[in-house]
Amino acid sequence: MAAALLDGKALAARIQAEIAEEVRAFTAQMHVTPCLAAVLVGENPASEVYVRNKRLASERVGMTSRLIRMDSQTSQHKLLALVAQLNADTAVHGILIQLPLPKQIDSHAVLCAVSPLKDVDAFHPENVGLLVQGTPRFAPCTPYGVQQLLIRSGIETAGRHAVVLGRSDIVGKPMANLLVQRGPGGDATVTICHSKTRDLAAITRQADILIAAIGQAQFVKADMVKPGAAVVDVGMNRLDSGKLVGDVDFDAVKEVAGHITPVPGGVGPLTVTMLLKNTLSAAILSAVKRDLLNTD
Ligand code: GUN
Repeated sequence: MAAALLDGKALAARIQAEIAEEVRAFTAQMHVTPCLAAVLVGENPASEVYVRNKRLASERVGMTSRLIRMDSQTSQHKLLALVAQLNADTAVHGILIQLPLPKQIDSHAVLCAVSPLKDVDAFHPENVGLLVQGTPRFAPCTPYGVQQLLIRSGIETAGRHAVVLGRSDIVGKPMANLLVQRGPGGDATVTICHSKTRDLAAITRQADILIAAIGQAQFVKADMVKPGAAVVDVGMNRLDSGKLVGDVDFDAVKEVAGHITPVPGGVGPLTVTMLLKNTLSAAILSAVKRDLLNTD
């Protein structure tokens, strides 16, 4: 194997230990325990697992978590009423609406209803706008995790060509926005590729950093990768055999790349970790706001 493995699981454990220490200091000083409220609508098995992992991780770093379940027939009106209640609850700092939502619900309307100050997924248009302007309040968890992985693995982004495969609102677009920003983990020259991109392989072969987030099992082949490139796989696909694989053909690409993330154990654990980071940031924002309001 030519490529060095980017061990997201080990890095996530390190960052979570740092967050646990920050939570301890914050709670001791402010007498507030950061709290994440997760909303789960319906019975999607994958969502069940994701939410359980997020709650377990938040408790591991000393936060509290709440789970609010709603049945799959829940109306938009009822879900919006719940969001309003969580927005107004001063004991809740972060609100996570697990996606996807059932089809009778307008997801965009629900995500827009979450208070931007509690929007730890960074999906609210105000937070998207702040990110695009280069002054993020919260960064979306998966791209933020990928950026931390690059920074902490010593992979230079400044002046290098980063190619993002995929233009989703959750990963592709915010990933490109983070990479193009000024500062550590940024200053890259960024190309976004998608299903209408012509001669995709010719573009991916130019990438010093290739980020795959298209949701197609083992789509990125060895001949699409420049020798020595850093390849980050955001994909999570289950083959008919039951095996979990990413968007990158790992066994072939690892012989060409300089660095590569495994699936599982790459980006996934970092997504959860950055959600914790955002929840702590939301609790800090809330405490600062409270103190400002109390002291004048
Ligand atoms: N469903 C798939 N990815 C995500 C995510 O990052 N956040 C939420 N809330 N739901 C998701």
